[in-house]
Amino acid sequence: MVSIPSRITLLPRTVKVAVLIVFLIISGLFFSSASWDTYDRFTLRPFDSSSTSGYPTSNYPPKPISHSDQDKVLVVSAFFPLPKSNHQISDYEAWISYFLSTVKTDIYFYTPPNMVSMIRRLRGDLPIYINSSYSSPFDVPPMQGLEEDYILMNKSSKFSHRAVHHHAMSAIWNSKPFFMDEAMRHAPDTSLAFGRKDKHYEYVFWSDAGGMREPNFYEHWPEYNRVDALWEEARKLSGYMIQKDEFFFIPIAEMGSWGKYKDEGRSWKDVHGPANPGQVPWSEGSFLGGQPSAISWFREIYYTYHNAWLAEAMFVGVDQDLFSAIMLLYSHRFITVWLTDPEAPARHHTSVPEAAGSSDRWSPLGACGAHWYYYEWFLSDGETRDKMRDKWIGQIEEPQNQPVQGNWDGWWKGSNACRLTNLIWLQQLLKRELGDSWITPEATLANLENPKPKNIKWVP
Ligand SMILES: *[C@@H]1O[C@H](CO)[C@@H](O)[C@H](O)[C@H]1NC(C)=O
Ligand SMILES: *[C@@H]1O[C@H](CO)[C@@H](O)[C@H](O)[C@H]1NC(C)=O
Repeated sequence: MVSIPSRITLLPRTVKVAVLIVFLIISGLFFSSASWDTYDRFTLRPFDSSSTSGYPTSNYPPKPISHSDQDKVLVVSAFFPLPKSNHQISDYEAWISYFLSTVKTDIYFYTPPNMVSMIRRLRGDLPIYINSSYSSPFDVPPMQGLEEDYILMNKSSKFSHRAVHHHAMSAIWNSKPFFMDEAMRHAPDTSLAFGRKDKHYEYVFWSDAGGMREPNFYEHWPEYNRVDALWEEARKLSGYMIQKDEFFFIPIAEMGSWGKYKDEGRSWKDVHGPANPGQVPWSEGSFLGGQPSAISWFREIYYTYHNAWLAEAMFVGVDQDLFSAIMLLYSHRFITVWLTDPEAPARHHTSVPEAAGSSDRWSPLGACGAHWYYYEWFLSDGETRDKMRDKWIGQIEEPQNQPVQGNWDGWWKGSNACRLTNLIWLQQLLKRELGDSWITPEATLANLENPKPKNIKWVP
């Protein structure tokens, strides 16, 4: 009996060559479509039976995304114009309108009485409760009575490198944890609940009113199903040690100059004051949130530390520094997204031109709009992500997918449409960045009774 391999060797050479050629043509076709269509394969397309050429057809139309749980999400925001601001009022009006006229999620909004009509006009018929109880940021309870100290803090020569444009800006920033917790408690008693006694929010987020700087598609945002899936993912990342109602989300923009932040991060202790390792706060201040008990926890820990450091005449004028410090102290409770994470798996699949790295049209994950606001896209549903992805890819010129002379690197890669990166559990990230020997600094000031300080001794 003749075995199969030896039968093949017995075939005439012409037959073997023909089989080989057919095999090469088929595999060539397969690989070419695989390498050129990366973007299409990443894109969920609406079902359209007339244009399925090249796509495996499914007998079931995709289930449309249900946004029926979106009313379990509350977005909290505020706008207090300053006499001297980083930006023109007209800039703010445009940005606030990209936010208020697009996002359909319930919004609880703090603003002084003279701004109510503008906010109402920009919001139109969409659900909002406007709280105009505070005319100035120093009317907000945790900031009451602190204006003089905030002026001295901003003027102190010790903090000239941190000084802000206006001391009232610091008060607005430092009101966020209070606003979030209060809004969440009061919203069910407002028009947002339509008289429903059982109104309950499962996720509460702060978003800067000026946090959407271009026209966008973020209607159901932050999207409930996406958010809930991420919080479930977070549980898994923590080895099911931390529960969904304990996680607090704050995006990261940059970690700071390499080496430096590692050294400073490793040696930081709470008695040193708000953390600013590597001169860059790790946290972004424009967006944060989680489930109700995490929101209340955050408020408590935030003002405990704010007051403790203020009493020691330390600089508490930038909320991001306080966020970074709390993130270091309680890294197990924080989850984040970091667009420029050098170790994000998603960044290995783009061919972003090197020179484009610093531009806002490009990022290591492709064309994702302004780096700072990547979290907005990250917290959207797939349909919305597709729309934004198409918008951004239209704004860039894709590098030719061809081997450039002498530079074959990445020629096989797909389009530079925006990639979705992974959710990060902060404790894991800090262990990775600061080394396995890093241990969480002890929260030595947390359990003290820390009332608002008086007679603070500022260095002039
Ligand atoms: C805060 O300090 C900075 C830097 O010294 C200064 O330019 C600014 O005018 C101060 N702002 C206020 C409102 O005191
Ligand atoms: C405005 O917000 C504060 C703080 O949450 C709350 O105490 C107050 O009752 C609110 N005012 C109105 C009119 O809703």
